[in-house]
Parts: sequence; structure tokens; C-alpha cells
Amino acid sequence: MKFFIDTANLQDIQEAHDLGVLDGVTTNPSLMAKEGIFGHDNVIAHYKKICDIVDGDISAEVIAVDFDGMVREGEFLAELHPNIVVKVPMIREGVKAIRHFSERGIKTNCTLVFSAGQALLAAKAGATYVSPFVGRLDDVGTDGLQLIEQIVQIYGNYGYQTQVLAASVRHVMHLIQCAEIGADVVTCPLSVITGLLHHPLTDNGLQKFLSDHAKGNV
Ligand code: G3P
Repeated sequence: MKFFIDTANLQDIQEAHDLGVLDGVTTNPSLMAKEGIFGHDNVIAHYKKICDIVDGDISAEVIAVDFDGMVREGEFLAELHPNIVVKVPMIREGVKAIRHFSERGIKTNCTLVFSAGQALLAAKAGATYVSPFVGRLDDVGTDGLQLIEQIVQIYGNYGYQTQVLAASVRHVMHLIQCAEIGADVVTCPLSVITGLLHHPLTDNGLQKFLSDHAKGNV
């Protein structure tokens, strides 16, 4: 399973990269705004900085919601760096844009996916990734992980190449369960990735090993 970090924070991206387990980055307009990155030129410069840190797929989202606008923005974004993946919302014009990009070899991430039907459309349009939002479904009392299971099964039934990118992953158990289900990718904040590190028995065990080793030094 690939680990993507879901942030536009350069420090967090660098830290996840330094850990040696990072496969890519996902961003969205809200994550950019959270870092105070506004305006076309600043946003583009920020994508370039992310591409300089991580050698893996970097999702950059279009703002347009019409086909021509999405194509224009997406083609511009794809030209920035070979690792840019054009992130397109799951709307009618978005499906058309994904088809357009996939026919031209431009990678896409279909975002804001909340149903199996939407995921099926994304795959048929040739999306590279589909992003079902696990946490946001949980927020409204619907089982987000069940949707991941459904999509993995449907894609498996027909051999779709679209990768299931579990998004809106909020905590360690989300990530573990996505791995059990067989999601191709999870994207999550740094805290979820580093949350995998911790176990009290590891800390206690290490303390004991070190103190026993130190007995030889007295
Ligand atoms: O990848 C989508 C993600 O940014 C949404 O996460 O926590 O805002 O639902 P969240």
C-alpha cells in the first residue's frame, strides 16, 4: 500500500519524506488555504516546492468546474512536473475531463467520491486514482470503510486499473483497516503516519534493553 501525505505543509511533507516511507502527496484548495497559499502564482510555486521534496505522485486540484476550464488548468498543471496528477472533482464535466486527460496520458485523481457508482464512473473514464472520502462519510453516519471495500471489490471484478486512494483518513485504525481491505493508497495527515510508530511495549522494551546493556558499564 502506498502512503501519501494529505497536506500542503512543507515541513510535514519533508518530515514524512525523511522517514523514508512517503510515496506521494495530495493537496486541495482547503489545504492550500490552511497554509496561507493564495493566488495562482503562489499556488503554482508551492506545487513546485512540493515536487522538489517528494519524488512521487503529487495531486494538484483544478478550480474550474466546466470542461474547457478544467482541461486548460489541468494541462497547465501537468506541464509543471512529470509527477503532477490532475485532481478533478466527481461531477459531470469532471468525468469528461478525466476521459480527456486519460486519452492524453495525463494522470488524474478523481476527488470528492462518496459512492460506489461515482467510483465506477471514475474508473470507466480512465482515472489513475479514485479518492473516496472515508472520514467525511463517517462524519455523517455512513461507514466510510465499507465504501472502500465495495470499490475494491468492484474494481477487482472487472480488472479496472484505477487505484483506490482512501482519502479523508483521520486516524490510525482507518489506515490499518484500509490496508486490510486492500486499498492501493491511503492519504492522511503526518500524525496518522507517525501514529503507526507508537506502542508502549516497544518503549518499555527498549528502555529495558538499554538499562540492561548499561549494567555492563558500571
Ligand atoms: O484528501 C481529502 C482530504 O483532504 C479531506 O480530509 O479530513 O478534510 O475530510 P478531511
